[in-house]
Amino acid sequence: MKTVPDSNRQSFRALVIEEATSGEFSSSIRQRKIDDLPAGELLVKVCFSGLNYKDALSFSGNKGITRHYPHTPGIDAAGVVKESSDPDFEAGDEIVVTGYDLGMNTSGGLAEYIRVPSRWAVHRPESLSLKECMIIGTSGFTAASAILEMMNHGIRPESGKVLVTGASGAVGITAAAMLANAGYRVIASTGKTGAAPLLKTLGVEEIIGREDVNDQSGRPLLPGRWVAAIDTVGGNTLSTVIRSTVERGIVTNCGMVASNNLDVSVFPFILRAVRLVGIASAETPMARRIELWNLIAGKLKFPDMEKICRIISLEEVPAALDAMLKSASTGKILVSM
Ligand SMILES: NC(=O)c1ccc[n+]([C@@H]2O[C@H](COP(=O)([O-])OP(=O)(O)OC[C@H]3O[C@@H](n4cnc5c(N)ncnc54)[C@H](OP(=O)(O)O)[C@@H]3O)[C@@H](O)[C@H]2O)c1
Repeated sequence: MKTVPDSNRQSFRALVIEEATSGEFSSSIRQRKIDDLPAGELLVKVCFSGLNYKDALSFSGNKGITRHYPHTPGIDAAGVVKESSDPDFEAGDEIVVTGYDLGMNTSGGLAEYIRVPSRWAVHRPESLSLKECMIIGTSGFTAASAILEMMNHGIRPESGKVLVTGASGAVGITAAAMLANAGYRVIASTGKTGAAPLLKTLGVEEIIGREDVNDQSGRPLLPGRWVAAIDTVGGNTLSTVIRSTVERGIVTNCGMVASNNLDVSVFPFILRAVRLVGIASAETPMARRIELWNLIAGKLKFPDMEKICRIISLEEVPAALDAMLKSASTGKILVSM
């Protein structure tokens, strides 16, 4: 085992969520012991984490995400390997972990240290800093997964317009930035009028309101408006999106901020050959994961990534997660350790 001496090894700062006997949940920043971290080949000093909706759910005591408390959430982490018992990683390597069980039932990235299985880690791509990797994080990785599905379906910039829903959210804004920078004509649907200037700076061509993708007519097919769509919202938004997709178009869905229901007839599929693809990024197999990080670091890399993020400290995380639960946050929130 290779070890880098670290005087700060014995204890570290972490966000800790606790469950009272009354069933209420509370959070605080605590000192935790490195020895209390779970087993794993890599001990990592976290430099950056990023907030995701799943962190907000874990923070609020959602047992579908985190079964046992006290718990440290944080499904994303980027940092420096301090100890490794896997020959593929050395002390000093800069790595990124997104998804798997990190921050769910494994002590997560909203802390100065994590210990994880080495099969969860990817080396930082050369053309991205650790900070940029965490601006991307699970949300950007999910956006890239959806874009790769779209590209593999044959959608090119000249094919037509691409819709992004929940466009001011972390997945949506990253998808919009990646697509626009890669030359696609992006329509962004947002419920926040204040998000329009930022979306325009990122290269979005057209901004529409949430109500424009919330059809109440119940018609099985609507006039075709886009050749592809990246939906983060679910519910009637997803139904409207599918019914408004042109022939042989593709719709991806990764989220359910509006609803986890989908009410749609088969007509978009059997009359227009519309393809609906689900995106589940947490357990993405390693070969695909590396393909995606290479895409993110290459063709999908966009300039001035910090434009889409706000940097906060560990102390500011509880308020930020509260805002996320109320759908009041815009863009990506990066946590600097
Ligand atoms: N499947 C996966 O692998 C995966 C990975 C990451 C995230 N997700 C999921 O993807 C979704 C989005 O994640 P995120 O990180 O982007 O969340 P986020 O930052 O909280 O953004 C969600 C956005 O959705 C829009 N929205 C909120 N409530 C809405 C409503 N009632 N109706 C329509 N739009 C609404 C808002 O954007 P506007 O104000 O601009 O409309 C909001 O900013 C979540 O459900 C998350 O769990 C899934």
